[in-house]
Amino acid sequence: MSQPPPPPLQEDIAKLSLEDKQLKAVEAEAEQRITPWEVEGAKVDGKLQAIDYDKLIQQFGTRKIDDELLERFEKVTKHKPHFFLRRGIFFSHRELGRILDRYEQGKPFYIYTGRGPSRGHMHVGHMLPFIFCKWLQDVFDVPFVVQLTDDEKFLFKNDLTLEQTYEYAKNTAREIAACGFKPEKTFIFSNQDYMGAAFYRNVLKISKCITTSMAKASFGFKDSDSIGKLHFVSVEAAPSFSSTFPNIFGGKKDIPCLIPCGIDQDPYFRLTRDVAQRLKYPKPCLIHAVFLPALQGPGSKMSSSIDSSAIFMGDTAAQIKNKINRHAFSGGGATLEDHRKYGGNPDVDVPYQYLTFFLEDDEELKQLYDSYKKGELSTGEMKKRCIQELQEFVGSFQERERKITDQDVENFMNPDYPRKFEILEDKK
Ligand code: TYM
Ligand code: TRP
Repeated sequence: MSQPPPPPLQEDIAKLSLEDKQLKAVEAEAEQRITPWEVEGAKVDGKLQAIDYDKLIQQFGTRKIDDELLERFEKVTKHKPHFFLRRGIFFSHRELGRILDRYEQGKPFYIYTGRGPSRGHMHVGHMLPFIFCKWLQDVFDVPFVVQLTDDEKFLFKNDLTLEQTYEYAKNTAREIAACGFKPEKTFIFSNQDYMGAAFYRNVLKISKCITTSMAKASFGFKDSDSIGKLHFVSVEAAPSFSSTFPNIFGGKKDIPCLIPCGIDQDPYFRLTRDVAQRLKYPKPCLIHAVFLPALQGPGSKMSSSIDSSAIFMGDTAAQIKNKINRHAFSGGGATLEDHRKYGGNPDVDVPYQYLTFFLEDDEELKQLYDSYKKGELSTGEMKKRCIQELQEFVGSFQERERKITDQDVENFMNPDYPRKFEILEDKK
């Protein structure tokens, strides 16, 4: 019989845990880790904790979206803030006030976001920035650009070819189109296609400002990572600058953008804001969302690479029902009896958490919360309500998507499609 290996020394664990992801499973205590590639809540006694977003605001040096800012938003735009804002789903920002100032003064700006096409369908978490951008485009009536990083996914994922990620980018463009953006004000591009000319010139200028040690410090790259990964940082940064899009802004360099994204993308744009100053471009402003948790529960994010963690926009009604019934982490009592007696915990209950993202009715949501807490509403009933809402969300999306033609997708992705980007300033 072989002897079990001796337990590793504490020191060795600390050293290894940076390198070896698996070892994290045995770590009993760990800080939360949020990077563009990894999201994990803190561990206490080996138990995953919910992500502490206030702490993240401190760590990243962003600002919380508070009531005062929301009041100003409403005053300036004459729109009631979207429920994503009211509920703290978009919870943090960098200089959102500057964008409101410009809107007030009739000065132009645009919206920029992106998606890394690592598979054919987005999951419901990926939809959050797009739902929000669609609303922002309706409120502000401004240009919107979407970067599909089919280069990034090739560089970062060992099992994907350039052909596959390109194919996924095309399908992602179709899904984005189904969110209802204005064709005459929206440009969706694949990096594989669009990188060149003005875009490439900005990539070069940016990459000259970023040293290897800055990229390592911001992203944790190691010497064994390909140089493509380091360089990609400038590719994600470049659409933050209006001169990247002469097709839209006619070569203007001074039009700032607002970037709605999950908070995990912030490291790219922290760096971009530094670089902007050196290149004498306006700094991009940001608005950050929390993560939609994985089906498995708090302290995680829904992720494309873990099938059972996610509900995809291509899932059938039956698949949605199965996934939620089988995998969704429940905050209910151990038995129905316990549940009735002690009540449930909606704050960790995944079906309830999902409803906070997808059920717009504030009153019903509050009712669900209260009756679950009292134990009146059962776990099964909460799941049922969640299934119904997600089936409706995904189903109506699929219906819209079926109406998107190949020509529609081509138009969104054609740099020369006639876009009516009248600059507010020029109207005066
Ligand atoms: P990607 O494809 O990993 O994610 C696309 C967007 O979805 C957000 N997101 C989530 N939001 C809530 N809950 C989740 N579970 C969840 N998972 C992902 C991400 O934060 C992101 O906003 N490198 C980028 C692509 C990119 C980009 C950008 C993103 C290029 N330029 C500008 C935002 C802004 C990527 O791979 O995203
Ligand atoms: N951790 C990522 C996920 O769960 C996968 C990943 C690895 C990734 N490298 C990446 C994602 C680079 C975006 C960019 O999806």
